[in-house]
Amino acid sequence: METIVVLDFGSQYSQLIARRIRESHVYSRVVPCNSTAAEIAAMAPKGVILSGGPASVYEEGAPQLDKAILDLGVPVLGICYGMQLLVKNLGGTVAPAPSREFGRATLTIRKPGELFAGLASVQTVWMSHGDKVTMETEDIETLATTPNCEYAACQLRGRPLYGIQFHPEVVHTPNGTQLIRNFCLRICGCQGDWTMESFIESSTRRIRETVGNERVILGLSGGVDSSVAAALIHRAIGRQLTCIFVNNGLLRKNEAEGVQQLFGRNFDMDLRYIDASDRFLAKLAGVEEPEAKRHIIGKEFIEVFADAARSVDGATFLAQGTTYPDVIESMPINGNPAAMIKSHHNVGGLPKDLKFKLLEPLNQLFKDEVREVGRQLGLPDEVILRQPFPGPGLGVRHLGAVSRETLDILREADAVFVEEVKKAGLYYKLWQAFCIFLPVKTVGVMGDQRTYEYVVALRAVESQDGMTADWATLPDALLRTVANRIINEVRGVNRVVLDITSKPPSTIEWE
Ligand code: XMP
Repeated sequence: METIVVLDFGSQYSQLIARRIRESHVYSRVVPCNSTAAEIAAMAPKGVILSGGPASVYEEGAPQLDKAILDLGVPVLGICYGMQLLVKNLGGTVAPAPSREFGRATLTIRKPGELFAGLASVQTVWMSHGDKVTMETEDIETLATTPNCEYAACQLRGRPLYGIQFHPEVVHTPNGTQLIRNFCLRICGCQGDWTMESFIESSTRRIRETVGNERVILGLSGGVDSSVAAALIHRAIGRQLTCIFVNNGLLRKNEAEGVQQLFGRNFDMDLRYIDASDRFLAKLAGVEEPEAKRHIIGKEFIEVFADAARSVDGATFLAQGTTYPDVIESMPINGNPAAMIKSHHNVGGLPKDLKFKLLEPLNQLFKDEVREVGRQLGLPDEVILRQPFPGPGLGVRHLGAVSRETLDILREADAVFVEEVKKAGLYYKLWQAFCIFLPVKTVGVMGDQRTYEYVVALRAVESQDGMTADWATLPDALLRTVANRIINEVRGVNRVVLDITSKPPSTIEWE
């Protein structure tokens, strides 16, 4: 498979670079910046991109480049810090810029060559740097300039080694994707044949080879990743796959039925539906503290799942919907395991007697690619474009101790809100829209009668990744309809309020 390797020097944009390469239909991999030339050569890449990074090349401890990578005979593109490293290794000079450059800049292309092929000679680009290449060695020629930067793009004369000071991967560089495509297709000579059809074909083959005659189990949550993993593995090995779906009593209205309908009946999967709601709710009775609730839900899930797994005779593989960002985010940065930002385990902590081999067929894919695979395998939009739903479910949207009755109130109110958001055509535009149950009662009046009932809050947010979020401005008419319907249709609620806080300082979920 034609591969472009991205060496990650700690840029917040490394994943974006890899995604832009994939958009050019070329497979990309992100690897730690201290990877050696031999390790890179073993991946037989068609090209290498050096990412940006927060350091300054001459700083003590700044990540360096194995110089032999430049002699592998494949094109290299250094971006920002990556360019400075490249230039330093080629005998050029990098120094603090007299004026640091952040934000939009106007790029004038002096020598279009292959890198800027098809682009107009003046471009808007996004800069973010404090250092710049200041001195031309004989061999390094400038390809493009900005008013503050004589070497906004450069090339080692006669060799496919390029550097650019701006960030082509971000949306603020409108033609950045074209530039990355030029690098991958024109300079590295890739065919651009990485498609989700080809992924499904090769991955189906690989799953069959790996699994042979053995059995696979998968914890199906109904979310995008586990659903697509289930559909893909099912395509490869049919009923050798057993999916386990646990109802923890904290699901949304009609959720359990929906999953059984789609996977059990439409896809004809071996789906084991386990209604463990009594067990979860008994353990949660009277528990108010959010972390304690999360802990109980997590622990019960593992026990229920482990029991179900033991009941599947001969299962030797555990499949998970781990995606590529999960893998990248668990990667030690700069070779330092202490710097791991996140260690990923979907079903972590299974008991010791359950030893499974892991099957993670989506671990090379970005989320948009996972969705495309799901679409091609026939999953409906409700699944592949579904808003995120937390593992502890309504447990973290029902403040205080849960009960069947109050969970039902939350489920009904939430179903009304989501239905109206969908009707307004906003569901797929929002990161999340849901209700929260507040265990406080307020006084109201309905039909001349005094009421004393619960409060429901509406939460709707816009976000790219859930790390930060803005509260969404919903149309007045929508809010009015939702509030009216909840009060009229959901017994036990006489007040609806709107959450107008962003993240930070709030979180998206309330617990
Ligand atoms: P917070 O509340 O931390 O949520 O702002 C950020 C995003 O993560 C989701 N979330 C979870 N997802 N298990 C999950 O799988 C969890 O325990 C969990 N807690 C929060 C939340 O829905 C939001 O999209």
